[in-house]
Amino acid sequence: MTALLLAESGVEVAVVEGRRLGAGTTGATTGKVSLLQGTRAQRIAARHSDRTVTEYVEANRAGQQWLLRYCEEHALPVQRVHALTYAQNEYEIPAVRAELQATRAAGLDTYPVDDLDVPFPFHGAVGLADQAQLDPMALLATLAADVEAHAAPIFESTIAHGVHHRDNDDLVIDTEHGEPPRWSGALASWRPAELKAIPSAAQTNSAVALRLSTGWLRVARSGYGPIPTEGCGHVERHGLQPTAVSTVDGKTTEVSAICPHLYGIVRWNDAEKSWDCPLHGSRFTADGTLLDGPATASLPLISGPAAVPVTGPPRGGPTTVLPEKI
Ligand SMILES: Cc1cc2nc3c(=O)[nH]c(=O)nc-3n(C[C@H](O)[C@H](O)[C@H](O)COP(=O)(O)OP(=O)(O)OC[C@H]3O[C@@H](n4cnc5c(N)ncnc54)[C@H](O)[C@@H]3O)c2cc1C
Ligand code: FES
Repeated sequence: MTALLLAESGVEVAVVEGRRLGAGTTGATTGKVSLLQGTRAQRIAARHSDRTVTEYVEANRAGQQWLLRYCEEHALPVQRVHALTYAQNEYEIPAVRAELQATRAAGLDTYPVDDLDVPFPFHGAVGLADQAQLDPMALLATLAADVEAHAAPIFESTIAHGVHHRDNDDLVIDTEHGEPPRWSGALASWRPAELKAIPSAAQTNSAVALRLSTGWLRVARSGYGPIPTEGCGHVERHGLQPTAVSTVDGKTTEVSAICPHLYGIVRWNDAEKSWDCPLHGSRFTADGTLLDGPATASLPLISGPAAVPVTGPPRGGPTTVLPEKI
């Protein structure tokens, strides 16, 4: 969306994507386009003035209107639905009430919901009528085609390492592929057909489940492996514990491989030297420190950072450390 808006305003744009469009968080969402966003309003209100919350809501309203107009213009299906933030237990009831208060103060027409016929624990909700949901992958495919129609190229499977200025002030994106050969311009036609192959959100959500199970199956089969060489990492099973082992700057570190968000098994990202969760995109440093959510906690450290020489002796026996949530 940002690329499209920049391209429409005449800025020269290129989109660089390390995997495939939609491979990150966006493709795994349920595509809610809502001004009611969990407990966001009360969290902003706790730190900022009423005016800031109102401006946040207004900015979101402008974005929502732009998006819905875009969907209409491009014949993208949108469902109009009520949005709800609900309490699953009695301890969450105060947060629901606070959200009602904060959103109403910010000018939203939110309303309380006491009863709802749903097959899960329900202890009240705050609702907002006439919100929307859509297929994020269909939207992404349309946006991508539109970006290309504005002569802005999209490069998939291209990890960006940095950005620098050339002497003539051109901005250059450094990628894993290095400098393009001089003749590359002649062959630079993009392949819009591939965009049509982007799966639907429903398929993407089942892909999340598949990634979850394949992650765990892969771990179930593994045992102790060699110490990773510099800049590398892998997941192995130590007793019952899926363990993420990496070596960065000569230090081998073992952290739990179980993402604290919804228990995906993390994967090593060679380019960023990070542990990335394939389910919803949480990222962690080699020592497990949280970089990006939706996880809100780091990966528990099992051993290290210890200055284990890369060519050192094999590591000791299995550990049975389990994360608290399992
Ligand atoms: C479970 C969940 C549900 C959500 N539901 C909703 C919702 O219903 N509605 C809503 O509005 N918001 C929702 N959100 C929030 C929303 O999904 C995110 O704010 C949004 O998707 C972030 O978009 P993004 O493009 O910044 O990140 P992403 O979609 O994660 O994209 C980042 C991309 O950058 C690529 N990348 C990373 N590093 C590099 C590199 N070095 N070089 C090249 N490429 C790289 C990745 O491969 C990835 O494809 C949800 C979030 C989560 C986690
Ligand atoms: S399980 Fe959701 S980000 Fe890891």
